[in-house]
Amino acid sequence: MGKRQEKEKRARRRVASERRGHPGRRVPVRAGRLSPDRAVPANIPRPPYAPDAPPFLPAVPPDELPDRMRAAGHAGREVLLELADAVNVGMTTDELDRICHEACIARGGYPSPLHYKGFPKSLCTSVNEVICHGIPDDRALLDGDIVNCDVTIYLHGVHGDCNATFFVGDVDDEGRRLVQVTKEALWKGIDQVRPGARLYEVGRAIQTHAEAAGFGVVRSFVGHGVGEEFHTAPAVLHYYDPSNDLVLTPGLTFTIEPMINEGSWELGRIWPDGWTAPTRDGSRSAQFEHSLLVTATGVEVLTMLPGEPHGT
Ligand code: MF3
Ligand code: CO
Ligand code: CO
Repeated sequence: MGKRQEKEKRARRRVASERRGHPGRRVPVRAGRLSPDRAVPANIPRPPYAPDAPPFLPAVPPDELPDRMRAAGHAGREVLLELADAVNVGMTTDELDRICHEACIARGGYPSPLHYKGFPKSLCTSVNEVICHGIPDDRALLDGDIVNCDVTIYLHGVHGDCNATFFVGDVDDEGRRLVQVTKEALWKGIDQVRPGARLYEVGRAIQTHAEAAGFGVVRSFVGHGVGEEFHTAPAVLHYYDPSNDLVLTPGLTFTIEPMINEGSWELGRIWPDGWTAPTRDGSRSAQFEHSLLVTATGVEVLTMLPGEPHGT
């Protein structure tokens, strides 16, 4: 056994012994049971990767992209706000998935995660030490959990992608600080976006803020170009890498979605489900995401509703 493995084993034992006799302590998240597949009505236009998508899709005329992206972004945000209201102690992540599924369809959209590269549900729900890509199941949310809900809707031929981390009941001070710092880090990144800026300025601002607070920045998952495709170039790193040097130009649409860990930045082993991505050290992870459009003078946050303030 290597030195690092020994150290981790000791750390796990210590956590386990500290938890004994403290039934209120946080227990690791485990895989639950999935509900039967949810159907999408035949009249809802599907993305190309859906099993029952039409063989050809007309391309979106480039001049229509901003308006369509705005519509998809706003719809995604509305769905996310519906989930914010629904999150509660005792609610299962599968119920959140149902709400998301139905809210996307009610807006004439397709829930983008469903059948994307084999993902089985319409929403990603990532609890506590799960960094991202958690699959909704029959686990009931516990008092003190944090849960990220990541909504993407395919509407008018484009994807709108956003997420937020919510508190379940009473969350301890450190958990609240983690979530607050992560949201601030997203906005530090958004504030770098303008024509002529380099993409690494985004990652640098996020990393500086997160690490000053004593937290770790996840490297294994990144933001991405978004539009007719769910995930496309460029990769948007949430840490400083001078080679991430794309110059931003008006019309570019991409996400920023920092995942920030209470402890080490490192990714653990992906669950046997092929998706769920936990932290290596079992510490909690928070995330916030917006889809953005580079404008002639700065940035438009596509996944914010008119009237929502900067920093939301
Ligand atoms: N919405 C996620 C993102 O921000 C991607 C989820 S892919 C899925 O990029 F297949 F897990 F849904
Ligand atoms: Co995204
Ligand atoms: Co997302």
